[in-house]
Amino acid sequence: MPASQDRVDVPLPAILQGGYHHPLLRSLQAERHLTKDMLMYPIFITDEPDAVVEIKSLPGQKRWGINKLRDFLAPLVAKGLRSVILFGVPLHMQKDGRGSPADDPNTPVILATQLIRREFPHVVVACDVCLCEYTDHGHCGELCPLEQLTPAEQAAEAKVIDNARSVRRMQEVALAYARAGAQIVAPSDMMDGRIGAIKQVLIDEGFGNRCAVMSYSAKFASNMYGPFREAAGSVPNFGDRKCYQFPPNARGLARRAIMRDVREGADFIMVKPAMPYLDIMSEARALAPDLPLACYQVSGEYSMIHAGANAGVYDLKAMAIESIEGFLRAGCTLILTYFTPDLLDWLDEAK
Ligand code: PBG
Ligand code: ZN
Repeated sequence: MPASQDRVDVPLPAILQGGYHHPLLRSLQAERHLTKDMLMYPIFITDEPDAVVEIKSLPGQKRWGINKLRDFLAPLVAKGLRSVILFGVPLHMQKDGRGSPADDPNTPVILATQLIRREFPHVVVACDVCLCEYTDHGHCGELCPLEQLTPAEQAAEAKVIDNARSVRRMQEVALAYARAGAQIVAPSDMMDGRIGAIKQVLIDEGFGNRCAVMSYSAKFASNMYGPFREAAGSVPNFGDRKCYQFPPNARGLARRAIMRDVREGADFIMVKPAMPYLDIMSEARALAPDLPLACYQVSGEYSMIHAGANAGVYDLKAMAIESIEGFLRAGCTLILTYFTPDLLDWLDEAK
């Protein structure tokens, strides 16, 4: 009898280490690998045409003026950048209750969309659709006019979001971005019914076959949007966003929102933020297996990973990649991340 037979005291299927002892075997454990095509880079465009302004709370990220955009993007495109998502930062335009600067013909997002489509024909342009950067109150939708409030609400000077009016406004803004050349519009406002409404207006106006709708379906009221709001100047000047963004405990609401947005014709589903919501991503993967699934690794996640690396907790690159591997494992096929420029480099480095 061979000696080895005496020594088998662990059931054979429990021996796993042999299956991943080599770097290649470790790599083969993944269901999907990160490619450059899966990265979408969020960019802030301001109405100061020559601006290149550091955003302190987002290490390495800047607010770009329209005149600086081409030279900023050219090297990234050369490295394989395939898509961007644009956020407008109006510093001089007149904000009002309906967020008029959102679809002004000279608003930074429209100018940048036109420029990127012209200069970089292989780059897909997504435009975030929301009002918070453009309203004087800083909320994502329009507020109810006074006469629509109950007497008690009027007495309390309550502020209530007007969902129907906001949805109509999102239609206008989304259409303006599609007309400027956006191939994806991405409503982040969280008004109810906006996906179907936007899809319909795009179809009615002839963009049904040229513009996708990426829904921020499961967007949670997170503590990790702070650096973005500083960057975009979109801090609400009263209250918070809890009546339109989900509570972090809300698995059921997220599932309902995902199913609703699929029914309303969303082309992409998104989960946001990313790292604390991996379970929601795998729910989304299961509920909407036929749609590409996006996640947004938001500003606070990016800053947190940087802060930890600076504090010596871990290596920046290793931690950033670990975070992305989590999103892929949870089922994501598109990742919105401020690490995109770094990842384009890291993907080129020898493993
Ligand atoms: C708002 C919006 C937010 C982000 C993108 N669009 C957050 C918010 O203020 O509620 C956050 C992105 C980030 O933190 O990187 N429409
Ligand atoms: Zn908003």
